[in-house]
Amino acid sequence: MIEILYTSTAVTEDIDRDLKEILEISLSNNKHDEVTGILVHNESSYMQLLEGPEEKVEALFQRIQNDSRHTLVRVIWRHEISERSFDSWSMGYVNMAKVESKMLEGYEQYGGTNLNEIKKSEVESTGKSLLNILGKMLAMQEKEESS
Ligand SMILES: Cc1cc2nc3c(=O)[nH]c(=O)nc-3n(C[C@H](O)[C@H](O)[C@H](O)COP(=O)(O)O)c2cc1C
Repeated sequence: MIEILYTSTAVTEDIDRDLKEILEISLSNNKHDEVTGILVHNESSYMQLLEGPEEKVEALFQRIQNDSRHTLVRVIWRHEISERSFDSWSMGYVNMAKVESKMLEGYEQYGGTNLNEIKKSEVESTGKSLLNILGKMLAMQEKEESS
């Protein structure tokens, strides 16, 4: 298995509509392809982690790179993994604008900014703990939605 983490900049008139369409297609395609991960959105930028079988993830990433709903797709890391970080999520979704600032303690650089402008070295060095905090955000949003 591999994982790819990238950031990009949205090109759209209506990001809510794009997100709805992207998440809908992701749920069905990713389930079928055994791809899991998380899509983070902040203002007009995205950060997405894709994880799963190498062939499936690479094919998906090709489609994503060619998708005209965003541009400036920038790979932060791509490497082999032995286990998934988001194994129960066909594609988890986090809207940074809805994340409480206390969740971001120590990760303030991810709040209120263009995710595609964060320094690659900064994301790399945050590494696994970034995935941890994203997981916590997902759990928090899920809890809010179900209450
Ligand atoms: C930011 C972003 C994230 C996306 N994530 C996924 C994804 O996880 N899974 C997926 O199937 N498509 C995703 N897409 C949509 C793909 O680019 C593509 O439109 C979709 O897979 C359908 O491809 P097809 O029309 O070639 O069948 C994403 C698009 C964008 C802009």
